[in-house]
Amino acid sequence: MTVAEKVREKVRGSYGAAVRAERSCCADAVPKGVAAQTAGYTRDELAALPQAAVVNSFGCGNPLAFSEVKPGQTVLDLGSGAGIDLLLAAGRVGPTGRVIGVDMTDEMIARARESAAKAGLAQVETRKGLIEELPVESGTVDWVISNCVINLSPEKDRVFAEIARVLRPGGRISISDIVVEDMPWWVRRSARLHCACVAGAISEADYVAGLERAGLVDVEVTERLVYERSQIVSLARSEVATTSLPRWLRSAAGRLAGRLAAGFAGRVWSAKFVGAAPR
Ligand SMILES: C[S@@+](CC[C@H](N)C(=O)[O-])C[C@H]1O[C@@H](n2cnc3c(N)ncnc32)[C@H](O)[C@@H]1O
Repeated sequence: MTVAEKVREKVRGSYGAAVRAERSCCADAVPKGVAAQTAGYTRDELAALPQAAVVNSFGCGNPLAFSEVKPGQTVLDLGSGAGIDLLLAAGRVGPTGRVIGVDMTDEMIARARESAAKAGLAQVETRKGLIEELPVESGTVDWVISNCVINLSPEKDRVFAEIARVLRPGGRISISDIVVEDMPWWVRRSARLHCACVAGAISEADYVAGLERAGLVDVEVTERLVYERSQIVSLARSEVATTSLPRWLRSAAGRLAGRLAAGFAGRVWSAKFVGAAPR
């Protein structure tokens, strides 16, 4: 197994467990469903969706907000998870459009399929596969969206190249993802923090450069949600709380992790990237 395959295996295991469990993926102490409430969806949007899609939503933004997705278009969601953005996209493209979700985790694919069937959305199709090797024909997609996924990829340049390949000329992207500045090596090496969408994240500038290297144009960041100190501290504490350390050591380690994490305030945020394939 290559290093990249090992990383994906960990991520797949973590998200499969997150769907089966009563907790969130990105912070063990955060109840499921909280991600959707803080990610920028409107109350009305959430109220209209099947609960399974909302509760199993692990995004960090709302990639469709303010996008100009139109009826009849084709939307591709990278790492579509339990399907929250697939269902919202289906409403935008209508019955004459197409929405394709790609995800590598069986549990996620199953939830997304159930929710789309329950909502009677025949225009939604979910494909099992990797975002580094999209099971999608070249030049067929009007919009690539993604929500808190590319940070998890150990091969981001492959993902960016795949985005450029599948877009039609003039096709567009709207991607919400976590970015970081100056993460120390010990954060980078943590598999748990990788699965929690922090350790694998790159800087905003590297993200933009990667998309441009792949050939996309007009790439820019249109929204930022900077995480507060308290959110970062509780993420670190909750990660330590579920380790197999003895109990006495766990609480001391939790306090230490919280103190160290406080130093990252202002260095982790969710950004929305937009851009286009050249015409
Ligand atoms: C943080 S969750 C986000 C899910 C969804 N976008 C949402 O907003 O709820 C990350 C998702 O990406 C999927 N994923 C991560 N890396 C992937 C890869 N390399 N190829 C395909 N899917 C991947 C995981 O299985 C998981 O469903």
